[in-house]
Amino acid sequence: MSHSSCALLALAALSSLSSAKEVGYFDSSSCADPKGFATCYENADTTYSSCVNNNCAGGGESCYNSCGGSTSCMNEQCPGLGVDCINACECERSALQIDCAGQSCWNKVYSCEYQATALDYISFCLNPDRDGLPYWPTPDDVPDSCSCNTGQIEQKLYLINNQMNTCSNNQTNIGQVMTNVDAITEYAQACICCSFSAIISAIWGTCPDTQPSLLAADEWFVGLLNPGHWEDCGPYLEKYDCAGDLGFGRADAGGITKFYSPGNLPANGTKSLYNLDGVVSTPVSGDVFTWTFASSLVHTVTVSSADATATGAKASGGNDVTATGTGTSTATGTAESDVKSGVGSSLRVPSWTIASIFGILALSTL
Ligand SMILES: *[C@@H]1O[C@H](CO)[C@@H](O)[C@H](O)[C@H]1NC(C)=O
Ligand SMILES: *[C@@H]1O[C@H](CO)[C@@H](O)[C@H](O)[C@H]1NC(C)=O
Repeated sequence: MSHSSCALLALAALSSLSSAKEVGYFDSSSCADPKGFATCYENADTTYSSCVNNNCAGGGESCYNSCGGSTSCMNEQCPGLGVDCINACECERSALQIDCAGQSCWNKVYSCEYQATALDYISFCLNPDRDGLPYWPTPDDVPDSCSCNTGQIEQKLYLINNQMNTCSNNQTNIGQVMTNVDAITEYAQACICCSFSAIISAIWGTCPDTQPSLLAADEWFVGLLNPGHWEDCGPYLEKYDCAGDLGFGRADAGGITKFYSPGNLPANGTKSLYNLDGVVSTPVSGDVFTWTFASSLVHTVTVSSADATATGAKASGGNDVTATGTGTSTATGTAESDVKSGVGSSLRVPSWTIASIFGILALSTL
């Protein structure tokens, strides 16, 4: 066995042993079939290590070792080392983890933990089939669902990014009319400013009570809005009709209606992420269901122990993250702790968003 595969296996073992109950984002003891769930994740980890070892080895052993196998570290330290390959393996693993949830943690498929797992899948996979993802985004008014619908946020962000491209391409198309370079630049800048404002609206507006830092708001500012000079967007947002003329109000563009300007941001929510009251007592999609992975591959999931007793969440109403006092409790008084930190941050800024914004900026300064 090569050195790197030993390291990988050790890592995989560590990640599944670090806590007896913690499996991925989940506390496996809350799953309908805790043992089956943990075993399923172990198998997904094994698939992941052999995927990396068999496909991504390409001379990356020293980098892999110095980074301890961390994808983001390898991304930074050794670009071009097959990060796409590692992401492809991560993509496969997250797809298997979605299977695991559907199979053994079917009672938690509306939870914050499941949402985080699905967000990982979307961010690691290249062109994931969003419509094929099960329980995604979480429907409204379902039991034991996350206090913030991060799936809805992700979907809006995705559509906003598409509209940013549509908007600026439209400017290119009507370039014959806009012969003035300043006018073209201004139009591209307006498209970008509207999309930044729409991003803020998607995060703050979808979950006004949740602390935005738990929804990757800071990552969006650092990765996109600050380098794109969001602070200079005020005049563009006053002059242009983002929702109407520039199209960001359309349902297929995110359906954003409220456009904030830099000097006029919405108030920050203060709550953590938590699962609302209720119990999913029978498998939502029956005993067997299928979902499509990457538009062609169909995953078939067979639900295990459908007769197991599902443990429900007792909503705590969430803790006030900024306050030092205790969180509000429900009438029953049984407060369940918030989901562990990191669950929301998988709502990360996709690299294609950053690539396209800088493409537009480069275009507009030609
Ligand atoms: C393209 O731009 C024109 C002029 O601003 C606008 O009327 C039209 O709706 C835009 N088309 C799209 C698809 O955004
Ligand atoms: C609101 O949240 C954002 C994102 O986490 C943060 O950058 C900003 O400083 C916060 N504003 C206030 C007034 O706390």
